[in-house]
Parts: sequence; C-alpha cells; structure tokens
Amino acid sequence: MSDRHISRRSVLAGAIGVAGLSTISRLTPTFATDRAPSRGFLWGCATAGHQVEGNNINADFWVYENVKPTLFADRSGDTCDHYHRYEEDIALTAMLGFNCLRLSIEWSRIEPEAGNFSEAELDHYERVLETCRKHGVAPFVTYNHFTTPRWFASRGGFTTPDSADLFSRFAEKATSRLGHLIEAAATFNEPNLLQSVFWRKKSLAGSPTALQMGAAAAMATGSKQFTTFYSGDPVIALPHYLSAHEMAYAAIKAGPGDFPVGVTLAISDEQGVGPNNLARLRQKESYGVWLSAASKSDFVGVQTYSRNRTGLHGDLGPEPGIELTQMGYEYYPQALGATIRYAAAATGKPVYVTENGIGTEDDSRRIAFIDTAIAEVKKCIDDGIDVRSYIHWSLLDNFEWIYGYRPKFGLVAVNRTTFERTPKPSAWHLGAIARNGMAR
Ligand code: BGC
Repeated sequence: MSDRHISRRSVLAGAIGVAGLSTISRLTPTFATDRAPSRGFLWGCATAGHQVEGNNINADFWVYENVKPTLFADRSGDTCDHYHRYEEDIALTAMLGFNCLRLSIEWSRIEPEAGNFSEAELDHYERVLETCRKHGVAPFVTYNHFTTPRWFASRGGFTTPDSADLFSRFAEKATSRLGHLIEAAATFNEPNLLQSVFWRKKSLAGSPTALQMGAAAAMATGSKQFTTFYSGDPVIALPHYLSAHEMAYAAIKAGPGDFPVGVTLAISDEQGVGPNNLARLRQKESYGVWLSAASKSDFVGVQTYSRNRTGLHGDLGPEPGIELTQMGYEYYPQALGATIRYAAAATGKPVYVTENGIGTEDDSRRIAFIDTAIAEVKKCIDDGIDVRSYIHWSLLDNFEWIYGYRPKFGLVAVNRTTFERTPKPSAWHLGAIARNGMAR
C-alpha cells in the first residue's frame, strides 16, 4: 500500500469519523484493473430515487403507501431527504473512496402530468449529475427504478399498448438534457422480477391485501385500474416492457453522450436440490427473456443478493439452520460469482455488477459479505470475464419498499429525524477496497 494511500485514508478518516478505522487495515485483494475497460473499473454505491429522495408525491408507490389497506410497512415520507442533500451524499461517496454512484431519475418528477415535462426537475437532475462529475464520481443512471408517475399507473401502466412510446418519450427528453453527463445507464431496474416472483415460495403479489391496496389506490386516483410494477398481469405487461426497453435503448443511444446502455436484472444463484429438480426451468423462466434483451444492449447489469434452492416441486426456501438476512433469505455472498458467470455466458456482453448487498443490523456481517462477494468478482475477472463494476446496494439506509425502514442495507446510517449521515465501518472498509483497487 502506498504512502499516498495511507495519508489519504487518514485525512478521510479524520474528516468523517473514526468508526471504520479498525476495519480499514483488513483489505481484500486488489483487482487486476489492467483488464478493466478504458473508462476504468467502477466502484460504486447504489441508490434509487423513491427510496432516498423523499416526498416523491407524484409517484404511483406514494399512493400505495398512503391508502388503506396497504402492504407497505411505512410511508416513504422524507426518506433520506437526498433530493435536497445530494451534494453531501455525493461528496461523501467520493470521500469514502468510490468513483461511481448509481442513482435513478424519477419519471414522476420529470413528467408529473402526461406530456408536461418539468424543466425545473430536469435542471435538478442536471445539477445532481454535474455535482457527481465535480466530485469525480461517475453517474450510473437508471431511467426506471420501479416507480412510475401516478398518471401512468392510472391509465394501466405497462399493460397498455402505448406504454412503451410513453416511456421512450421520457427517456428521450431526459437524455437530451442529461446525456452528456452520464457514465452508463440502465433502462429498467430488475424488470425480470415479474417473471421470477412466481417461483417464490411466499409472494405477496396477488395476496388479498395487495388486491385491496390496488383497489384503494384506483379509488384514490379516480382510475379504473391502478397498474404499477407490483400489479397488472405480467403476461400482458411483458411485451410492453420489452419494447419499452428496446425503444428507450434506441432513444438514449441517439441522444447526446456516448455511454453504455443496458438493463439490470435480479439474478440469484439458482441451485438444484435432488434428482429431477426444477432449477434450470426456474432459471430459464426467471431470466431467459431478459437476458436475451440484454444481449441486444451494451451490457447486462447483475444484481445479486442470495441463492435460491429448487427441488422437484419448486422453491425449497432457505436451508434449515442457515443464517438469514433481515429479508428472510439466506446469507450467501458467494452467489455473486455464479450469477456473473451465468449472465456473461448467456449474453456474451460485459457485466456490470449494479447491486449486491445485505440487509442487516450487524455491520460486521456486511463487511464479511462484501469480502466474499468481491473475492468472487475477482475470480471472475481473473478467469477472463469482462466485469466492469462493483456497485454496492446501498449508499444509505433507506426506504426498503414494502418492508419500510426496518431492513438496513446502507453503508451509511441515516438519522430519520435530523438526516445526519454516519458512515458505518463497512463504508470505510469497502471505500478503502475501492481506492486500493483503483491503484495501479
Ligand atoms: C432493488 C432495490 C432494493 C434492493 C434490496 C433490489 O431488488 O433494486 O430497490 O432496495 O434490492 O432489497
């Protein structure tokens, strides 16, 4: 480790706090960045607009959170107030040692009514991306991270034939203003969840509460059908999502900037248990169509949290006695190696790890998780797989959708009243790996 590196670490530790100092010395192996792309390997943290910005009142999920009954354990409310505190968060990302921040732009802010684009909100996101650049943080932009505008949900969401046109119109508008600042972009975040959810042993989709919440949201918005990522017939929605991805891909590529565009997928390590198990079928149904869409894009985004075990009759759930995360699935960080290999082989495209993380109150488990996951990434790179990023979910403890604020995925804790940010030891730990990994 160079002196320069040590002194920079000390300065950073002094600037933010000493919480992580004891863990910084335990660095995992560095990456062979020689094989990284010309832009360099991206070491980042991820966020999503609705989960961190706060008061995203024109979004469909805001409606869900505020009707009764609701599946949502909490209302998002102010969440991390990242909308106003983005500069602090970007500066923190840079200070911790990361060179990338994945964030999403909120369609419902940029187009609060159909066809009515807000110049002020485009200005806002332009400032956010400029601030990233100012701090040496490459912005990885997600055009849709689950939430859509209320007006879009009220007219049937992605179950309507013109939904792809509407999404790509938004993508075109946003790119024309922001494209020159973007490092890499994803059209959709995890659209394949619509396919994979049916394999889960326990799923809330289609539950009585989900249906009642949907009906209450329709009533609250005076619409016949309030269709979001959580609702609507996935068989009807799938072709529209696919065309929306293709059209948005084309619109983004045609705009200013010259950056890779892909789609991020939720991919678990699919393990078969016992003879005649259904693991390969599950894999094909959960990912096949979207991997093929990714193969026509510039990259595939891999988002991995755990493994699935599948037997003769389907999902087996966690192995008895194994450690679980706050989300109820297995602590299984080694999953990332298998999912990178699978996605790379299936698409023939570069892989960006765009999410990987753990919901836990025990930050020492996050550190252990990170070390194992990164060792897997390193093995993949050493085996010649073109992996271009490790982006951890998440920068901040944030609004974890229906689970509310209980699960803690953040490298940085956020005080829910004062919004004060406190990096956890894992933030220093991963930040140090990121800085070290970049060293030649
Ligand atoms: C999603 C994030 C979510 C994370 C942790 C991913 O599936 O993209 O929005 O917070 O998992 O559950």
